[in-house]
Amino acid sequence: MEPAERFQLDVLAYLQCAMGLLGSLALVLADSVYGRYTSPGPDLRVPARAAWALQELPSLAVPLWVCARTAAERLRRAPNRILLAMFLVHYAQRSLIFPFLIRGGKPVPLLTFVLASMFCVYNGYLQSRYLSQHAVYADDWVTDPRFLVGFCLWLIGMLVNIHSDHILRNLRKPGETGYKIPRGGLFEYVTAANYFGEVVEWCGYGLASWSIQGWAFAFFTFCILLTRAQQHHQWYLEKFEDYPKLRKIIIPFLF
Ligand SMILES: NC(=O)c1ccc[n+]([C@@H]2O[C@H](COP(=O)([O-])OP(=O)(O)OC[C@H]3O[C@@H](n4cnc5c(N)ncnc54)[C@H](OP(=O)(O)O)[C@@H]3O)[C@@H](O)[C@H]2O)c1
Repeated sequence: MEPAERFQLDVLAYLQCAMGLLGSLALVLADSVYGRYTSPGPDLRVPARAAWALQELPSLAVPLWVCARTAAERLRRAPNRILLAMFLVHYAQRSLIFPFLIRGGKPVPLLTFVLASMFCVYNGYLQSRYLSQHAVYADDWVTDPRFLVGFCLWLIGMLVNIHSDHILRNLRKPGETGYKIPRGGLFEYVTAANYFGEVVEWCGYGLASWSIQGWAFAFFTFCILLTRAQQHHQWYLEKFEDYPKLRKIIIPFLF
């Protein structure tokens, strides 16, 4: 593959890091943009289930399209295949399962929906194009400690994320839309246990892929979810007098 394209994918990865910082700033300035912070108003919104299914779908569809339209030479190698599978497994869950389990989720403002969809096209292309055409790993990369530790972190992070989202969902009975204090699992230690799982997951992916592209996605996720976790934490403290004071924001025992 052309070195020029490899350079372009590196530039896209650095831009993704900048997007993470800008996105975090935008969340602070706009006081977050979806979920509990959206005030009732006349602006256009997409129902929660449709929004999550459609905005996340490009992360699944774009990699499949990228790999189908050109000979995905590097996918003959096991490390590349496993890393792409890690990405696709997450987004199969996020776009095909997660949306249909949501209970009483708030409609997503149209602008947030459009920006999230565009990000998923961008990131789906970046990760899949890099792994299918450019990433070169040694034959024994799958036994390298970076890959093994990264893979375990990815798996543990994904399980924590799914379990924590399950706890949040079950706080509401069918038809309810209000908020309660989450209990159980890692919520005993942090406000944003689902975000903690997601950050660990993508840091594991970054480590296992040992690439600018993998780390850029982990950094983007960390920027966005750290900001949102801080806002959730402050919101719980203000809303619930009995909110557990020792609970950290996103990283158990630390922060
Ligand atoms: N990789 C990334 O950059 C990235 C970015 C954003 C999100 N995500 C992932 O996407 C998933 C959803 O994110 P999110 O920001 O929507 O998470 P969230 O704010 O924690 O909300 C998740 C769901 O649980 C409900 N919920 C949250 N707290 C609740 C409470 N105390 N009582 C009752 N229901 C509650 C929410 O309802 P409402 O909609 O009514 O608030 C929503 O349906 C998470 O797994 C997250 O990790 C990833």
